[in-house]
Amino acid sequence: MRIGVLTSGGDCPGLNAVIRSVVHRAVADHGDDVIGFVDGWRGLLECDYRKLDLDAVGGILARGGTILGSSRVQPAHLRDGVERARGHVADLGLDAIIPIGGEGTLKAARLLSDAGLPIVGVPKTIDNDIASTDLTFGFDTAVGVATEALDRLKTTAESHQRVLIVEVMGRHTGWIALHSGMAAGAHAIVVPERPFDIDELSERVAARFEAGKKFAIVVVAEGAKPRAGSMDFEVGGKDMYGHERFAGVARQLAVELEDRLGKEARAVILGHVQRGGTPTAYDRVLATRFGWHAVEAAHRGNFGMMTALRGTEITLVPLAEAVETLKTVPGDRYAEVETVL
Ligand code: F6P
Repeated sequence: MRIGVLTSGGDCPGLNAVIRSVVHRAVADHGDDVIGFVDGWRGLLECDYRKLDLDAVGGILARGGTILGSSRVQPAHLRDGVERARGHVADLGLDAIIPIGGEGTLKAARLLSDAGLPIVGVPKTIDNDIASTDLTFGFDTAVGVATEALDRLKTTAESHQRVLIVEVMGRHTGWIALHSGMAAGAHAIVVPERPFDIDELSERVAARFEAGKKFAIVVVAEGAKPRAGSMDFEVGGKDMYGHERFAGVARQLAVELEDRLGKEARAVILGHVQRGGTPTAYDRVLATRFGWHAVEAAHRGNFGMMTALRGTEITLVPLAEAVETLKTVPGDRYAEVETVL
């Protein structure tokens, strides 16, 4: 069998562990050929690839990022994207393509799969927002980075009696905010799933100071927004791919809370540090299992599917189902945390 693998969209700790696992399972166990497309879908669309043998994946298990490179380019960005991809798959004699990516990548995978290409998707994202899988690799690492940052920020907030508003990633979902805020014992957690009321938020922080506490840590997901009419809020517009640009909610909250509370407030935006560096052991294991199962799915001809974690088992789910909706934080998960804030 000849397999093409690619990593597309925002990078994420654990991508190299999947690539390594695919190559080991395919080359060493099945005697397959594996090629890696450079910079995600761009590599497939421009036929830019390299051979992946066991040497090529030596020593990459613990390395962050992706040895193949990534980009936000997608087949749908080109008028003839699907036809180009089909032509290159045929020219290269590929029997299977394993794209590793988040929502956008998996939507592109579904498009190509519907056009008849042999695709097995692997979900990845620090945001943990892919439906049909309990978890994505990268999330555990990102939560760990954010939690460590929050622990550190507590000591400086306390020294200066400040309110620190810490913005974490997550796009339109609050998973990283919820888990890191819970792990670090934040005093308020603001997620996109529940538009915030600025009066309630500032009362919560004020109550903490009135109770004699000297500082407060507010974790806010980058995609969080105020309830309509709750406060003036600047929106961020769209980036060059038409994705929503986040508007610096932490910065806007810091100004508002400082003015309302008369306490020094600072915004801390964690940004891409949450995606960089070595994956946790949990993420390496999940990524390795996804890679192994993707190769098995290809050998069984299970195309149009995505690997998924359900409980402790790795299973396959239709790509169509996986990209239908985003997995958002359910209300009861948020309720659990409210009582311990
Ligand atoms: O989807 C992963 C993610 O890190 C999001 O949390 C974040 O909004 C986005 O990617 C940032 O993308 P970029 O690397 O293009 O700035």
